Amino acid sequence: MNQSAHSTVIITGASSGVGLYAALALAKRDWFVVMACRDVPKAEQAARALGIPKDRYAVMAIDLGSQQSVRDFVSAFRRTGYPLHALVNNAAVYLPRLEEPARSPEGYEISVATNHLGHFLLSRLLLSDLEQASHPAPRLVTLGTVTANSEEFGGKVPIPAPADLGDLQGLEAGFRAPVAMIDGKPFKAGKAYKDSKLCNMVISRELHRRYHADTGIVFSTLYPGCVADTALFRHTPRAFQRIFPWFQKNITKGYVTQELAGERVADVVADGAFSQSGVHWSWGNRQKAGRQAFSQALSAKANNEARASRLWDLSERMVGLA
Ligand SMILES: NC(=O)c1ccc[n+]([C@@H]2O[C@H](COP(=O)([O-])OP(=O)(O)OC[C@H]3O[C@@H](n4cnc5c(N)ncnc54)[C@H](OP(=O)(O)O)[C@@H]3O)[C@@H](O)[C@H]2O)c1
Repeated sequence: MNQSAHSTVIITGASSGVGLYAALALAKRDWFVVMACRDVPKAEQAARALGIPKDRYAVMAIDLGSQQSVRDFVSAFRRTGYPLHALVNNAAVYLPRLEEPARSPEGYEISVATNHLGHFLLSRLLLSDLEQASHPAPRLVTLGTVTANSEEFGGKVPIPAPADLGDLQGLEAGFRAPVAMIDGKPFKAGKAYKDSKLCNMVISRELHRRYHADTGIVFSTLYPGCVADTALFRHTPRAFQRIFPWFQKNITKGYVTQELAGERVADVVADGAFSQSGVHWSWGNRQKAGRQAFSQALSAKANNEARASRLWDLSERMVGLA
């Protein structure tokens, strides 16, 4: 493979859905894509099935729920000698029907461990690689979501509860059993996902405040639209999986295809129009053909700088960086 002729992007969770289609879109734009996935054969098969050109990608193993696996991935990536021009934090688990918390090898609740702590560790370890990129402005792009932004209607839905990190009481207490929620309250699986996505958006802003001016790295998040038919919803009830895409297509008009969501991620990674750091990009909640992206305001919960700084410190401690 002739990787050196291309800009290189790592996309986590590129074995399906938004990440897979982002890999396709970036490969078509002449990027070389490192598909960082926990199921390597599945990712290889998915890339082949979608027709991503063989010389435009490599699949590498990572389990974001395991801190050792994240560290092993970074070592393996460095051994390839590839430069790094962009990182896309895309992988996520959504386990809304868990009645009891599942735990990572380190003992942390699995949604927060995977979606937030795994990406926090990965981002921190790869900052120096991004800094060395030949690009004038390397990018670190993270998938956010409307359901974690109470500035928007979707973020106010109380099923099972809106995202809320409280005063980080659960993290302050160590976040190991019996603690399972960031705010220290009783376990609610669906809220754990929303909280982890709120952490993604908070940490992207905190990365921007701490590193953008000195490194030139562009830090942004995006909501690509409601991609209601991805495997993200595989653990919801079957009836929900049938109704949700129909509802989003016909009632809310929030539905976007996986292909369009992938193109939107690729825009935020590669397009000159998305070179501003510290921004949460959105195309709105009701999709309209040709609509341009705009900078979506985030909630007070996401913009609280003192809490963001404390979340940073506690996350550092939990991933062994402090
Ligand atoms: N779908 C939507 O409507 C929507 C809306 C807003 C934001 N998002 C965000 O978009 C991103 C992608 O979601 P999606 O809808 O495309 O879901 P998806 O199809 O389920 O993709 C999630 C990806 O994450 C991977 N993953 C899960 N746990 C992992 C782990 N421990 N280590 C490594 N990879 C792991 C999955 O791998 P496996 O294939 O091995 O499970 C899969 O490749 C998420 O961050 C989600 O929050 C989605």
